[in-house]
Amino acid sequence: MMNFGSKKSEGKGGSRSRVAPASVICVASGKGGVGKTWLSTTLAACFAKMGRRTLLVDGDLGLANVDVQLGIAPETDLAAVIAGWVELEDAVCKVNGGAGSEIGFDVLPGRSGSGALAGLPAEEASRLAASLTALALQYDTVLVDLGAGIEDNVMRLARACDRCVIVANDEPTSMTDAYAFIKVLRGYAPSVQPWIAVNMADTRVAGRRTYEALARASQTFLGFRPPLAGIILRDLKVREAIRQQRTIVSIDPQAQAALDAQQIAEALIRGGAEGMVEAKSA
Ligand SMILES: Nc1ncnc2c1ncn2[C@@H]1O[C@H](COP(=O)(O)OP(=O)(O)OP(=O)(O)O)[C@@H](O)[C@H]1O
Ligand SMILES: [Mg+2]
Repeated sequence: MMNFGSKKSEGKGGSRSRVAPASVICVASGKGGVGKTWLSTTLAACFAKMGRRTLLVDGDLGLANVDVQLGIAPETDLAAVIAGWVELEDAVCKVNGGAGSEIGFDVLPGRSGSGALAGLPAEEASRLAASLTALALQYDTVLVDLGAGIEDNVMRLARACDRCVIVANDEPTSMTDAYAFIKVLRGYAPSVQPWIAVNMADTRVAGRRTYEALARASQTFLGFRPPLAGIILRDLKVREAIRQQRTIVSIDPQAQAALDAQQIAEALIRGGAEGMVEAKSA
C-alpha cells in the first residue's frame, strides 16, 4: 500500500508556500541512451541556479539512475514509497543543500533494478503521477526523467506533466522513436506540449536539420509543429561530468553543453527558443 502524501506537507522546497503548482516538465526520448538523464540533471542545476525551487524526479521506473549521475546515495526512494514504507515527500533528498539554496535542488530518487517500479500496476502508476502533481505545489519547477520507450507507464507519468522535452539525436533510430513518442503522446495526453531538444549535435546547422526533420514530420502527419527547446552540441565534458558523478554546471559551467542546457532552461521559461520557431513557420 503506497503512502502518497497523506501527511500535511511542510514543504521540502523551503518555507515559502505557493498557490500555483510548479511547471512540470518531463524529459523523454523514445530511444534509450540519447541523454535524457544527463539533460534532466543538468536542467535541474540550471533552474536552481536561476533561483527556482526545483525538484528532479527519477521517473525511469525500470532503470533509475539519476542518483548515480549525481553521486548521491539516497536513504530511501520511490520503491520504498511504493512498498508503503515511507511517504512520498519523505523520500525527497537534497542535492547541494536542496531547493532554495544556491544551485541546490531536491531529488526524488528511483531504485534501479529493484523491479518494484518497472511492473507497477496501472492504478498505482496513475496515483504516483497524481501525487507528484500535489508535490509540485512546493516547487517552481519539477523535472521528471522518464524511461526510454513508449509503454503505458511512461505515458502515465508524461500525462501528469505540462510539457515534455523530447530528446533526439541525428541517428535515424532516435528520430523515428522520437517521432513515435510525439505521436503516442499526442493521442494519450493531448494537453501535454511536446518540445524537441536535439542532443549530441556535431554542429548547430546539423542540429537544426535534425529538428527540422522531426518538426516537418509532425507538421505533415500530426498537424502541428513542436517548438525547439534547443540544440546541445556533443561535448566530452558531458562524459567527464557523468564520470565524476557531478553536474556539468558544478564542474564546468562554461562548458559548451552546460551553456546549451542553460539556454534550454531559459527557453522553457520564456516559452520558445529565441524566435526560431516563429521565424521558420512565418
Ligand atoms: N551532449 C553530449 N555530448 C557527449 N556525450 C553525451 C551528451 N549527452 C549525452 N552523452 C552521452 O550519452 C550517454 C547516455 O546519457 P544518459 O544516460 O543521460 O541517456 P538516457 O537517455 O538517460 O539513457 P537511458 O535511456 O538508458 O535512460 C552519457 O553517458 C554520455 O556519455
Ligand atoms: Mg536515463
